[in-house]
Amino acid sequence: MAAPLPFSLLVIVLATAVSGSAAAAAVSFPREALPTKSGYLPIPPANASLYFAFYEATHPLTPPASTPLLVWLEGGPGVPSLLSNFFQIGPYTFAAGRNNGSVPLSRNPFAWNRRFGLLFVDSPLGTGYSAAPSPSTIPTNQSVVAEHILAALQSFFAAQPAAFRARPLFLTGESYAGKTIPAASSLILATNPELPEQWRINLQGVAIGNSLVHPVAQVTTHADAAYFMGLINDRQRREAEEMQAEAVALTSAGRWREASDARAQLLSWLRNATGLASLFDVAAVETPLEAVAAGAAELFNDAEVRAALGARAGGAPWQLDSPAVEAAFRDDVMKSAKPDVEALLGASTRVLLYEGIRDVEDGPVAAEAWLRELEWDGLPAFRDAARAVWRRSGGGGRLAGYVQRHGALVHVAVYGAGHLVPAAQGAAAQEMIEDWVFDRGLFGSGAAA
Ligand SMILES: *[C@@H]1O[C@H](CO)[C@@H](O)[C@H](O)[C@H]1NC(C)=O
Ligand SMILES: *[C@@H]1O[C@H](CO)[C@@H](O)[C@H](O)[C@H]1NC(C)=O
Ligand SMILES: *[C@@H]1O[C@H](CO)[C@@H](O)[C@H](O)[C@H]1NC(C)=O
Ligand SMILES: *[C@@H]1O[C@H](CO)[C@@H](O)[C@H](O)[C@H]1NC(C)=O
Repeated sequence: MAAPLPFSLLVIVLATAVSGSAAAAAVSFPREALPTKSGYLPIPPANASLYFAFYEATHPLTPPASTPLLVWLEGGPGVPSLLSNFFQIGPYTFAAGRNNGSVPLSRNPFAWNRRFGLLFVDSPLGTGYSAAPSPSTIPTNQSVVAEHILAALQSFFAAQPAAFRARPLFLTGESYAGKTIPAASSLILATNPELPEQWRINLQGVAIGNSLVHPVAQVTTHADAAYFMGLINDRQRREAEEMQAEAVALTSAGRWREASDARAQLLSWLRNATGLASLFDVAAVETPLEAVAAGAAELFNDAEVRAALGARAGGAPWQLDSPAVEAAFRDDVMKSAKPDVEALLGASTRVLLYEGIRDVEDGPVAAEAWLRELEWDGLPAFRDAARAVWRRSGGGGRLAGYVQRHGALVHVAVYGAGHLVPAAQGAAAQEMIEDWVFDRGLFGSGAAA
């Protein structure tokens, strides 16, 4: 296990490279680590904009006009997408374990922009470099977030050559983005028919990792998940089940804030009872992001780094997790995005759900719990479908997880990963996303289903 990276060193090297000579920049902050395009996307009618960083595909298999585009949205709510750029799926990362210690920023062989254009958007407003003009402009629900994402995408396409818009688009992300991705996608589907053809968005699918989608079902699984992993005993399991029942009752009564607080209390109780650093990964002795938190804040607040990444100078400081955004969504936590997923499946829009199995909170068990409740005519066949063992094609047949699919729905449990799948299993995550987008192999939804 690699030691946490020397962040203060990284800041110095990076800052020097950006402001220093071209030769220094080539070594410390390779040109490929900088976005192809970055800056701000206006989100009318709000008088505000969202930060974006776009990386064009480095080794596409398709002509430029048909090379897929992936949008990545991070969770939290209030965690910047930029973090996944430099820690998980961007072309250059400083993820511990993927770095040999002597090079602060190294090429990520498992980047998601190998075959696809990759667009990171800091959302909701108030997250990362997307400073909120005032606290009252921070959204409090997914309807508003979805409108902002749609407006940002329209601004993005409006600034590109016309052919760009025809590229197949996939919304991807993880964790709390399990609510935003379905909400934004179903809004895109609902809006498209009302738009002139040249303004439509070519949404083909969504990929969602270790997420919160239908909390009232997911919250009932934590006690079992912890118990069957041997993390709590039977008495503790019953205690946790009582807390779960309370969160469910409050949700059913529409007492959103109290329901959200009840869930938070349950999770906090479980963390204490299990002694885990995080319920997001039973194997981690420290939370993956805690290890890098201070350094990341220092790095992304550096004036030279901000300028290099196209972020505005000054304004609110960059934070790993915005408490203001998190607070704004307190009433949203227990609300469900399941109807939006149903709208996607009903329109045969492809849906990939994947979870690292070491996640006690948002792992495969939690996903199965809400999938069982899907109102979708393909559900019986999906539930009957065999679960295939997935072995990496490029990795000497190494076990990578399990894949179940029917029609437009693919569900993957990823072996050897917790909440942050691409950080833990970069090669497998890359194989999964590429095969799924290209609709091939175990992840293809069209062929044999
Ligand atoms: C929009 O925001 C900018 C910058 O915050 C401000 O200067 C401008 O007055 C605002 N415009 C309107 C119409 O509110
Ligand atoms: C670390 O990576 C750099 C760049 O890839 C390489 O030059 C160096 O030899 C590596 N060091 C070790 C100890 O593997
Ligand atoms: C979402 O928030 C907006 C702005 O506060 C509000 O107008 C709207 O009614 C809310 N929508 C839902 C579904 O709660
Ligand atoms: C935390 O767990 C310990 C036992 O491991 C228990 O004694 C203590 O009461 C717990 N604290 C809370 C706040 O639940």
